[in-house]
Amino acid sequence: MTTESTTKSDIRDPRLAEEGVRRIEWAAREMPVIATIRERFAKEQPLRGVRLAGCLHVTTETANLALALRDGGAELVLCASNPLSTQDDVAAALVVEYGIPTFAIRGEDNDTYYRHLNQALDSRPQITLDDGADLVATIHREKRDLIEGIVGGTEETTTGVIRLRAMAKDGALAYPIIAVNEANTKHLFDNRYGTGQSTLDGITRATNVLWAAKQVVVVGYGWCGRGVAMRARGMGAQVIVTEVDALRALEASMDGYRVMPMQEASAIGDIFITLTGDKNVIDGSHMEVMKDGAILANSGHFDSEINLEALAAMAESRRPVRAFVEEFRLGDGRRLFLLGEGRLINLAAAEGHPASVMDMSFANQALSVEHLVRQEKRLSPEVYTVPREIDDEIARLKLAAMGVHIDELTEEQRAYLSSWEAGT
Ligand code: ADE
Repeated sequence: MTTESTTKSDIRDPRLAEEGVRRIEWAAREMPVIATIRERFAKEQPLRGVRLAGCLHVTTETANLALALRDGGAELVLCASNPLSTQDDVAAALVVEYGIPTFAIRGEDNDTYYRHLNQALDSRPQITLDDGADLVATIHREKRDLIEGIVGGTEETTTGVIRLRAMAKDGALAYPIIAVNEANTKHLFDNRYGTGQSTLDGITRATNVLWAAKQVVVVGYGWCGRGVAMRARGMGAQVIVTEVDALRALEASMDGYRVMPMQEASAIGDIFITLTGDKNVIDGSHMEVMKDGAILANSGHFDSEINLEALAAMAESRRPVRAFVEEFRLGDGRRLFLLGEGRLINLAAAEGHPASVMDMSFANQALSVEHLVRQEKRLSPEVYTVPREIDDEIARLKLAAMGVHIDELTEEQRAYLSSWEAGT
């Protein structure tokens, strides 16, 4: 079918739309908070006529966010936030079935990735939704003429927030950003339980390894690392954590993991998983001492965490051995297996976080966009946290949808907690 959005889009194959619709509807079953917001948005039209550009992983969950924004009256354009994370059937459904212009093809090269991003920006968005800050960075570097018309933006992920805070610190940030990642209903659930489950899912789908008794090295003990370590232990793995932050290392120790420097862990690990947001945390010197057969996976936002150049330089030969697994044979005969080209393995080899956690992350996105519209242009160019009332409301809605009831403070307790008189 050729609609205006088809002609304005770039997707793999519009014939995949039917499958995409079925899978988007399947995800919707686990996204009750987004459904509630979508219903209200449809009635109240808080985003009427507002132009949005979203640079997000194009998944079934993102599609449900997109539908809520569209039903709220927004004119939304989407592009991928990673070359390997797009679900082509979802992209097709968005364009053909739901009329949302989308520029995303799974496996696109870097040039296509940036062409798509620029095509999304051609819509002259008033609000940007980022996952990794590539939209904001491109606007600030190459499309500064758009800035005047921009009300603000949102950022989904830790890596993006780090970039944006660096921009704000340099005085380079030209419009306000709401750091969705900082909401409790985002990082405590998405980063921990979402990344925990989907990372093991991606590695399992790619390799079919048995986790039990494996030595798993978790590089980085932020919320994502905590989740992965917890779930790997749950599968019977022996987990080693490496960290540069003393407090986190202490926490990992008291959570019961072995903590040691990366160089030491490198000689022990069977499976390495990076979740630091940093660069070259698995470097050549580490690969030098790894065991034959070691598996290397990244679940951080960018493919910068494993030094891929060092790996390629060390290898005498390389070959794909199964989907998402590439074997690097080193001079001394050892083989190292790189998963998903070092890109985030949970979205490359699996489907990303399950819908139930994305429900809360994307509720934060939708309500933050509404908040930006309501603020009009009153916010200054800084990185803001999601307003507390929004965070709390999402927790309440999620609990209600889960059928979980909680207690309320009595008047006596409320008075006690707000007084300083009572003591020993
Ligand atoms: N990030 C991690 N998992 C995701 C998903 N399922 N959809 C969109 N973004 C994600």
